[in-house]
Amino acid sequence: MTDNTETMMGEYMALWEEHGIEVGSSPRRKKSSKTKNTKTETPKLNSLSDVAQWLGDCKRCGLCKERNKIVFGSGNPKTKIMFIGEGPGAEEDKTGLPFVGRAGALLTKIIEAMSLNRDEVYIANIVKCRPPSNRVPTPEEIESCLPFLKAQIEVVRPKMIVALGLTAASTLTGQDSAMSLLRGRFHTLAWDDSVPLMATYHPAYLLRNPSAKKIVWDDMKLVLKKMKANQ
Ligand code: URA
Repeated sequence: MTDNTETMMGEYMALWEEHGIEVGSSPRRKKSSKTKNTKTETPKLNSLSDVAQWLGDCKRCGLCKERNKIVFGSGNPKTKIMFIGEGPGAEEDKTGLPFVGRAGALLTKIIEAMSLNRDEVYIANIVKCRPPSNRVPTPEEIESCLPFLKAQIEVVRPKMIVALGLTAASTLTGQDSAMSLLRGRFHTLAWDDSVPLMATYHPAYLLRNPSAKKIVWDDMKLVLKKMKANQ
């Protein structure tokens, strides 16, 4: 882990604490003064369109300056399974749809290998606007966007979440760990222990490291097995 990544992980932890969530003690944890008093109050939301309306033409963080389209999320609002990535890339920013570029094509294949299709699942991201040059979103950007993803999860009420990549896995679980340690195990959301969550490698990582596809498939087999057992 680089120093920068460690600082960011410490800030994720501080972020969770400010949302009243205990994340345990971490020697690397560092409290961010920038994330204080920025909590977004959640109104009563009954549907994804309520969430979209609440989000509006969002200008809550700096990502709005360079985005073309907000990528809200797409799929079946009554699905049992949600896939959550990091943030939109160039194609997603153009179209307003999640995972439609090269990494998206691979995610589609993964979903289809699970005998599902994209219309049966729900796909979203940790942040809804493209970070410039596809950089990792900052803790402040994540903090301002997360209430909307939390609201989407509350409306959809999935029985399973798949976190794609480290940004999604660490944000959703509140755990400060390497992807190689987070993947392949069931976790829960940091704020709701009733929803099981599997962390696995991001499809963009698989494009660069095709040999990890087998690992992701092993993780998806665990997901399918648990979903079947919980039916
Ligand atoms: N990568 C992501 O994390 N999300 C997308 O929507 C596309 C690429």
